[in-house]
Amino acid sequence: MIQTEDMEFAPRVISPENTTEDSDIELSLRPQTLHEYIGQDKAKENLAVYIEAAKRRSEPLDHVLLYGPPGLGKTTLSAIIAHELGVNLRVTTGPAIEKPGDLVSLLTSLSDNDVLFIDEIHRLSRAVEEILYPALEDRVIDIIIGKGPAARSIRMDLKPFTLIGATTRAGQLSAPLRDRFGVVQRLELYNKEQLTDIIRRSAMILGIPCTADGAGEIAGRARGTPRIANRLLKRVRDFADVMGNGQITQEIASIALSKLEIDDLGLDGLDRRMLEMIIKGYGGGPVGLETLASAINEESVTLEDVCEPFLMQLGFLGRTPRGRVATRLAYEHLGIVPPEQQQSSGDDGQLSF
Ligand code: ADE
Repeated sequence: MIQTEDMEFAPRVISPENTTEDSDIELSLRPQTLHEYIGQDKAKENLAVYIEAAKRRSEPLDHVLLYGPPGLGKTTLSAIIAHELGVNLRVTTGPAIEKPGDLVSLLTSLSDNDVLFIDEIHRLSRAVEEILYPALEDRVIDIIIGKGPAARSIRMDLKPFTLIGATTRAGQLSAPLRDRFGVVQRLELYNKEQLTDIIRRSAMILGIPCTADGAGEIAGRARGTPRIANRLLKRVRDFADVMGNGQITQEIASIALSKLEIDDLGLDGLDRRMLEMIIKGYGGGPVGLETLASAINEESVTLEDVCEPFLMQLGFLGRTPRGRVATRLAYEHLGIVPPEQQQSSGDDGQLSF
């Protein structure tokens, strides 16, 4: 990615992408049971039934596809599912399974009813996917031995297992793969109350004194994402230690988050640049995603996966067949007068929301 002069070189504090530091804290904060897991009530309720049913029948759980924006707890939920089922969990990612042989060794190393978790499953190669189809459908794999005319295929039985696939982009999954998941569950962005509970729980585990208002202040700016909430908690703690007496209060949280350039709704510099470009560069839109991404020198997947779900949830952004549009709420948040309120020749007849 090319950096522009006004971009920070450090990763965005509110990027939901996983970092090494996150993995460490996420491990210690990770709930172990469905009961401890906050939010995603619909997914939890359904999964609890499927898990109980599978256990009663001593069968593997049906294959599960979890999809939704990054940082919402897909990996955590998979670990909980394996824990609740009382089986082992093997964790890998789509890009890490480079060759069909890599998947074969993974599948053949599983014990009865184990869970195999593949993150970013939309990034599996075609050749690897082809191994997966019969494995999911009939619990067999076809291995080709030899080359050329002498090549022959042998079929191997697998132990019963559950695949949990996770993706931020369910639309990119091939239809044959998608169709092989019995349970398809979308994870939603968390509301402020749920994030407050998550932050208070994390603060307790980490031994950080934090008032309810302090947790609420962080929650309100964590863009619906537990991973961001936990990361902000750690950053705000630094400010509380240095500027106060170590306790996170609403005031300390508010000062710290402003210093991190996260505004009162949780937008950071990139969100604001994206909206400002739509408004100032393209008259409020519609503008195509790729055009927009290159105009602000950012990768289109980042805008699509990270900025858009949140901006759409806030009602700041619309997606139309002709491209992205900024809504009136976005104008108001950025303090820009919407076109229909402009008195002079500024009224260009743009569609506003
Ligand atoms: N930590 C991160 N996500 C969580 C969740 N959904 N519930 C409890 N703790 C969490």
